[in-house]
Amino acid sequence: MPVSFPQHHPHHLASRIDQHLTGFLEAWRAPVSDPDVEAAYQVLNDFVLGGGKRIRPQLCYWGWRGAGGDDCEEIIKAAAALELCHAGLLIHDDIMDGSELRRGRATVHKDLARLYDRPGAEAFGHVGGILLGTLSLAWSDAMLSSCGVDPLRLRVAHHIFDAMRTEVISGQYLDMLAQLRAGATVDEALTVIRFKTAKYTVERPLQIGGALAGASLELLNAYSRFGLPLGEAFQLRDDLLGTFGSAAETGKSALDDLREGKHTVLIAHAVRHASPAQRAHLRRWHGDPELTEERAEELRQILRDTGAVARVEEMIGQRVREATTALAEAQIKPEAASALGVLADQLAHRTR
Ligand code: IPE
Ligand code: IPE
Ligand code: MG
Ligand code: MG
Repeated sequence: MPVSFPQHHPHHLASRIDQHLTGFLEAWRAPVSDPDVEAAYQVLNDFVLGGGKRIRPQLCYWGWRGAGGDDCEEIIKAAAALELCHAGLLIHDDIMDGSELRRGRATVHKDLARLYDRPGAEAFGHVGGILLGTLSLAWSDAMLSSCGVDPLRLRVAHHIFDAMRTEVISGQYLDMLAQLRAGATVDEALTVIRFKTAKYTVERPLQIGGALAGASLELLNAYSRFGLPLGEAFQLRDDLLGTFGSAAETGKSALDDLREGKHTVLIAHAVRHASPAQRAHLRRWHGDPELTEERAEELRQILRDTGAVARVEEMIGQRVREATTALAEAQIKPEAASALGVLADQLAHRTR
């Protein structure tokens, strides 16, 4: 007997989101009939539809439901728009971070480069990735604007969407700056993850959904008290997975952050508590683009031995507790509150 899920079951929700994405991408085909341009559109299409946990759209949906919105296709379309924004950010992020693997396959700029086996292909991949990422970001705006929700509420939500994009781009800028500067303290690294991840992944999607349903300011603030600590926990988990996770599960390389010399909260803790010898070893190898798996393992051991891993786990726990308390105190529709409780646990304790 075929299994059928209720409308808002996570599997069903994800497939409804994907249907809207598919429809939108079909409606916006390459405007010029050039096979190479069409191939680039296909690369973007495959990236958007070829994986991803759909966290932001799900949070947007539950933000709406939590504010009393009924299940409908308009909110699914608005929620799916956030996925196009996310896709654009990821495409740019992988260029900036020099990452070759995402969602278990070649990153968009690598994919584009592979289409052309000739000198200049790699630089072209970067250029094409910048353009496709920008296209995806532009489309996310078009998709949200055309979702069909009441125009006055859409205006409020769109303003939050504008703030969100400003925040995430500022966070990404800060993230890259930390590499240029000597490094980052724990507090500085926490500011970076608040802006580059926590807001656009959890806080703002919830608020956008809420605003579309006409949520009170009080509820929007409650979403923030829940969403910010949870969003930070999400990125702290990402940092652990990015160094200790299995690439088969995360779909990303466990060497990227170490090779890039990413100044994560994890690294900031290790640097702070390292012995002189450990610190010298970190300084020598963290950020070496040719870092071998063997050397990476030495760095991972330092992260364990300095207590940095345990400390980051503790920080995740604290933030999940803070979010859980905020959720319990908020005036959210019960069905949404319970879905958000489940999502919170998944975001903080995921393996992929
Ligand atoms: C990855 O986000 C980028 C971060 C902010 C850490 P996700 O872990 O939600 O990525 P996908 O969409 O599931 O691939
Ligand atoms: C990604 O941050 C954040 C955004 C895309 C805005 P990271 O660079 O830390 O995440 P991954 O590990 O590449 O997904
Ligand atoms: Mg990255
Ligand atoms: Mg990055």
